[in-house]
Amino acid sequence: MSRTTAGRDSARAARKPAVCGARRLHGMTAPHRSTADPLGIWRRLADASVLLDGFHALKHALRFQAHVPVAVTTGRRAALDLADELAPDVRDVLETLLTEVSEDTYRALVPRPHPTAVAALAVRPSREANLETLRRSPRSAPVVVLDNPRNLGNAGAVIRLAAGFGATGVVTTGTLDPWHPTVVRGGAGLHFATVVERLPVAELPPGPVFALDPEGEDIRALKLPDDALLAFGSERTGLSAELRSRTDHLVSLPMRPQVSSYNLATSVAMTLYHWSATGGASA
Ligand SMILES: C[S@@+](CC[C@H](N)C(=O)[O-])C[C@H]1O[C@@H](n2cnc3c(N)ncnc32)[C@H](O)[C@@H]1O
Repeated sequence: MSRTTAGRDSARAARKPAVCGARRLHGMTAPHRSTADPLGIWRRLADASVLLDGFHALKHALRFQAHVPVAVTTGRRAALDLADELAPDVRDVLETLLTEVSEDTYRALVPRPHPTAVAALAVRPSREANLETLRRSPRSAPVVVLDNPRNLGNAGAVIRLAAGFGATGVVTTGTLDPWHPTVVRGGAGLHFATVVERLPVAELPPGPVFALDPEGEDIRALKLPDDALLAFGSERTGLSAELRSRTDHLVSLPMRPQVSSYNLATSVAMTLYHWSATGGASA
């Protein structure tokens, strides 16, 4: 993490004093560490919870009001020093929440240990509440639709982008689980900063579908409305026939002849940037 990034995180934290209320949101009025059995809590909740792997995933989840019942680290002092440097807004919550465990215990709880040696479990947001948010009208920011994505890393990167641009949510179709631990890791804990759900094409939220495809109309001639569904095809096969049949506008990103296509996540980045640069809500 560079000094510039650290400064930016601290500045952002300073602009968001409300996040300090996370202690209250988590119901942590008394030190949890001394009174509870964190490993017992971990083992009881692990199967039904979202694994937050690494300091940054935990930091983001806390900032966006995730309910985090348990967090472990192999180096409490180092983790709190990192919080002092990068995330003073959630430092108090971390101090209460983090329990130091041995390296062997940490490795037994977390399959792929993160370099920051911090991991936590969070409660997955309610699907009903998420679907209500996705269907709410009018919508002030688009929903990103990934039509049958295959790559877990791409899905995580897209969720991070959606969070950064303030998109209403990310909906995936097909079999990939957008809450898979690898997707959550790729999304740096930002699943809690937007809405993330899987739905069949027939149940997509309302709104005009702008589907991205190299054969479409040049995006530079378009303004993408705030209530749009911005749909992107699978890495291997592009947009499905079912998604195409729900499409209102086919849109292309500028690309030199002989280049077949862009990576899925970079296509989402360009499209969300275009939405924001042409009057969409500022981040
Ligand atoms: C890796 S591409 C899919 C390539 C796939 N082999 C195909 O036949 O379309 C993944 C998705 O990114 C988007 N995409 C990539 N390049 C694009 C471009 N130049 N214009 C619009 N969308 C693009 C599309 O939604 C596409 O379905």
